[in-house]
This record gives sequence, C-alpha cells and structure tokens, in this order.
Amino acid sequence: YFIGIDLGTSAVKMLLMRDDGKIVNSVTKSYPISFPYTGWSEQNPEDWLRETKRGLIELMAEYPKEELVGISFGGQMHGLVVLDENDRVIRPAILWNDGRSSEETEFLNTSVGRNVLSERTANIAFAGFTLPKILWMKKHEPDLFSKIRRIMLPKDYLIYMLSGEFCTDFSDASGTLLLDVKNRSWSKEMLELCNLNINQLPKLCESYEQVGTLRKEVAEELDFKPTVKIIAGAGDNAAAAIGTGTIGEGRCNISLGTSGTIFISSTHFKVDSFNALHSFAHADGNFHLMGCMLSAASANQWWCKNILGTTHYDEEQANIQKLGENNVYFLPYLMGERSPHNNPFARAMFVGMSLDTNREDMVQAVLEGVAFGLRDSFEIARELGIKVNRTKICGGGAKSLLWCKIIANVMNVTVEIPEQDEGPALGAAILAAVGSGFYQDLESAVSRIVRVKDSIEPEEILVKKYEQAYWNFRKLYPAIKDWYG
Ligand code: XUL
Repeated sequence: YFIGIDLGTSAVKMLLMRDDGKIVNSVTKSYPISFPYTGWSEQNPEDWLRETKRGLIELMAEYPKEELVGISFGGQMHGLVVLDENDRVIRPAILWNDGRSSEETEFLNTSVGRNVLSERTANIAFAGFTLPKILWMKKHEPDLFSKIRRIMLPKDYLIYMLSGEFCTDFSDASGTLLLDVKNRSWSKEMLELCNLNINQLPKLCESYEQVGTLRKEVAEELDFKPTVKIIAGAGDNAAAAIGTGTIGEGRCNISLGTSGTIFISSTHFKVDSFNALHSFAHADGNFHLMGCMLSAASANQWWCKNILGTTHYDEEQANIQKLGENNVYFLPYLMGERSPHNNPFARAMFVGMSLDTNREDMVQAVLEGVAFGLRDSFEIARELGIKVNRTKICGGGAKSLLWCKIIANVMNVTVEIPEQDEGPALGAAILAAVGSGFYQDLESAVSRIVRVKDSIEPEEILVKKYEQAYWNFRKLYPAIKDWYG
C-alpha cells in the first residue's frame, strides 16, 4: 500500500492506494483558515500536522499497517512556514492567496526589475509567492524574522515533522521566487537580496525521490513501521497533474479547487514574454507553464453558501439553460487576482443585471467568470504557440458536469474527466509508489493507473457564442482597473 497526502487550503485529504493503483480508502480532515485583515490569509501549521496524524491513524485503522510501503505529498504552494532553532513555528503560515505583500512585490518587479527576476528565477514577483512574504516579514516583524532558522513550504513542514528531513522538491520550490528554475538550484543572488543563507532553506529533491523514513517517535504514535518510506512529493498542481497523467510534452490539466489553474506540461524550459504565466519545474523532472486564479471553486462556494445560503450546488445549477446567452458577467477576483492581472487589490464584481435577471443567471455568471478567467491564461499559452486541443480536469469544481461543459466551450477544447478524480492526493500516492521503487518510472505508473471516464466535446454553436462572450468579458477588467487603486 501507498499513501498520498494532499495538504489543501480547506482540508488535508489522505488516500490509501493499493499496488495496482486502486484507491481503497480515503479520509479528509479540515482545519480553519483565518483572514485577519482584508486580503490576508493564514493557517496554523500545527493544525495541519495534528489533523494529518489523526487522519493517517483513521486511514489505516482497518488495513494491514505492515504492508504500508511509502507516503508522499502534494501541498498548497507558496505558503511561508518559518521555524526557530527549536523547530517551533514562529508565526502562522502566510498562504498562497494572501495579498499583504503588494509593496514588496512592487519593489521586486520595479526596483530589482522584472527582467532580472526572470533571468534569475524564470518568474516575476506575485504577492502570493514566498519571497515577497519573507521581505514583508523582514520589514514588519523584524524580531520574528531574526529568529528564523528554517524556511519551508506547507507540505515540507509535514515532511520535516514526520521524518526529520529538511527538504523540498523542485516543483514546489519553483513558487518561492528563490529557485533558479532552469538550472534547478537555489539562486544565490535572490538569497542575498533578502539576507538569507542557504542553510535556512531546505535541500532540493526530485518529487519521486525518497528523502527518508518515518521518525521513530512518529511511527510509534501512528503505530506504523519506522521503515515506511517518505517520498518528497510536489506542489499541489504538479501532484494533480501526475494524478491526471499530465506529464511529458504539451499535455494540459485544469484544476478547479479553491484556486483555479491551467497547467501545461513541457519537456523544455519556456517563459512567455511578459512572465504572465508561471514557469515552474514539474514533478516528472521536466517543466510546466501555469496560470493561477485565486478564486475558482471558492467563488462558486462563496456565492452559493455565503450569499444564497445553500450548499446544494447541483440544485443551483439544475435549471441553467441559457449557455452562451447570459447577459450577466462576473469578475471572480474575490481575493485579488494572480494570472494574468497580478493585482492583489482587484475585487469581484457582477455586471449587466436587469430586472429580468434571475438566480440561475447569477450562478451561471459565476461559473462562466471562472471559465473566462482560465481562458485568459490559455490565450497567453496560445500566443506562445502552444496548441492545446484537449485537457484533463480535476478538483472539487470538476464534479459539476455543467461547469466542465462551460469550460470545454469557452476554451474550445475537449475536456476529459478522469475515472478516479482524486486530485493531488492521487498524484502524491503515485509519487509514493514510484519513489518506493514499485514502478520503474512515472510514465509506467501513470499509464497503468490513470484512466479517462468521460469526455466532453466542444459544440460549434456554443463555442461561437462563448467566443463573443469571452471578448465582452475581456473588456471589463481594463475598464474597471483604475478604480481598484
Ligand atoms: C498555485 C497556487 C495555488 C495553490 C493552491 O500557484 O498558488 O494553486 O497551490 O493550493
């Protein structure tokens, strides 16, 4: 057996996978997220650890623990976790969707300069990335900053606590703005810029590499064997891509989770001329381009749960019939926006309501707003000459066939729905199996384990209608941009 752990923003999800790739058990444990000020987003790493341990015990309760071979991870990216010399958490983790570091982001992009950043790291600064948050801490919390002994990403905190190994993988490290992505090493210049020394950063590993085994005390606490292997794992998007078989050249995966991402795998290193897409290392040893929206399934959840007061998402979508003919548009920037606008101050907005607008139109507008936002990133990839005709899809939002259909038509691509829609946790379990030596390589594991259940083809008439609607949507952000400040 192998375990895949996905340390998400709303919950940690754990899967138990048999050697043949079948998922036999899963456990999800949630934890709080706090928004202490508008645009801030924090979580307590100790909550992650406690819930993961509780979940692991539950996951294995009815299964032979002596047959557990390896554990690996996918994790929310970019989060800043800082530990002192006694391995105590210094402050709550500052998450990927936290926009507090706008000044530091501006400083990096203008004073250091986009070209310099791009040359050193393959990326420019976005408020959610780790480095701007480190600079924020240095300026606003100098006493806490001076106590930092180790900096790590969310899933790497779990690995450190479970195995004692201070390490990260290339895909997750790509989102720090401290990694020279092309050459797969920490950038000395970027470390100097924030007065960090390389010993404060984790060792870099490939995602499918074994980094250690369970610590003895942890093994006792969980009642697992101390020989259980710990495999490095990946950032959640790279892990999700593994779980949908998105590896090698030119494959695409869309994830509709709290965030919305479009992920294009590549065997070559690439950047777009404006660095609008992230250029990151992939968990298969290659590279990928990625656009990331900060609010995707979370926008639908906000609208239905917080505003309409329901969590019956299916019911809300059941009567939607006017695909491609909605007069209402939604800008989904509830937490600001990363790709492609790079604006932590952007906010959400409905446009175009009239007296005959009804509840379904508003729900539909939210689903479409996210699809249009994803298409924004897709357009940039197209400008790079990347042709994508089909994509896999995963994440909580992908359970809505209607949403998948909207995406297929807004993007004019075939959307393939995997048989086991387990997102990053499945990718992590596959990495555990490969890293434990059970499969020879990722390619063979993926071709054995990943299957497509359903595919949705774009329809000519809808594609045409959505083409017009997308270009209407495209006019809205530039028209309102200055108002955000
Ligand atoms: C990717 C990103 C998000 C988080 C969500 O750049 O910030 O997708 O990884 O967990």
